[in-house]
Amino acid sequence: EKGTYPHYMLKEIDEQPAVMRKIIQAYQNEQGELTIDPEIIHALNAADRVYIIAAGTSYHAGLVGKQFIEKMAKIPVEVHISSEFGYNMPLLSEKPLFVFISQSGETADSRAVLVTIKEMGYQSLTITNVPGSTLSREADYTLLLHAGPEIAVASTKAYTAQLAVLVILAEVTAKSRNLDPEFDLIHELGLVANAMEVLCDSKELIEHISREFLAVTRNAFFIGRGIDYYVGLEGALKLKEISYIQAEGFAGGELKHGTIALIEEGTPVIALATQESVNLSIRGNVKEVVARGANPCIISMKGLNMDEDSFVIPEVHDLLTPLISVIPLQILAYYAALHRDCDVDKPRNLAKSVTVE
Ligand code: F6R
Repeated sequence: EKGTYPHYMLKEIDEQPAVMRKIIQAYQNEQGELTIDPEIIHALNAADRVYIIAAGTSYHAGLVGKQFIEKMAKIPVEVHISSEFGYNMPLLSEKPLFVFISQSGETADSRAVLVTIKEMGYQSLTITNVPGSTLSREADYTLLLHAGPEIAVASTKAYTAQLAVLVILAEVTAKSRNLDPEFDLIHELGLVANAMEVLCDSKELIEHISREFLAVTRNAFFIGRGIDYYVGLEGALKLKEISYIQAEGFAGGELKHGTIALIEEGTPVIALATQESVNLSIRGNVKEVVARGANPCIISMKGLNMDEDSFVIPEVHDLLTPLISVIPLQILAYYAALHRDCDVDKPRNLAKSVTVE
């Protein structure tokens, strides 16, 4: 139920800190260590490559998940859009493990891939919010998101829950391979939950930013480098699907290879700067678009922030920034849609779960 909330989307955005704490609990054993069904960890360790298959927001979570699994567990990962996989099937490794990410567990494009790879005799894991969903029933293994029902068509809390489950999977796998994770993930995820709370309490400021940058524009660009680029893709998807503003996410370094031609006087460019290693280069990209008339909105992480930034998110571990940098983008999209009198929870032309291919 929506309770006092005007929209499910806003309620689900606000639920994210609680979902984070629920996930930390659900994946902890009695000794207070993160734990995952040993059969799943065994399946990962037996694989020479992981193939993540997903659509939309879940695909964007997969892009970040690849970073977690490769950096922490040192297993190579490919991420594929489910609807493309059938025609563009990559040359598979000898021992692939397929990981399906799907909030609903019912996405037909992903189900089709599962049917194909099962016929080929490969193992599969589904990461889903819905126990007993088709993708969960048909895969060998399931990990649950514990996010509670997501009603708004635009996915919010499922995305951050997917990231949390993926990083826990990466961590438990890393430990099983005697790889030193270098940080205490339970502690860091606790900090993420606290940071999420701070962001959910910053709605007024973000609404103000939404009015300033998105009130009248036809289009908007999101730029970032590294994992910020992937979060930008998700921010753009949120904005376009509910506010109908044409929004696109780009890798900062790709701008000069074509996209920069689209920049006009006043075009909003939302830049993410949460990674120290690319902080100066993404700010260089901002200067390039400003020189062509763009209206820049820089969202940075504390410690990397500069005077010109529009919004600063609290500091968390640099691998975990997508869990929180996405929240101001979700809230920006929400207010952009609201200010345009759009139907926030039920955007035109969209369904919550896409059960046709
Ligand atoms: C975007 C959105 C969609 C879904 C996509 C996959 O906000 O909700 O892009 O992420 O349709 O759905 P699931 O995760 O249910 O497979």
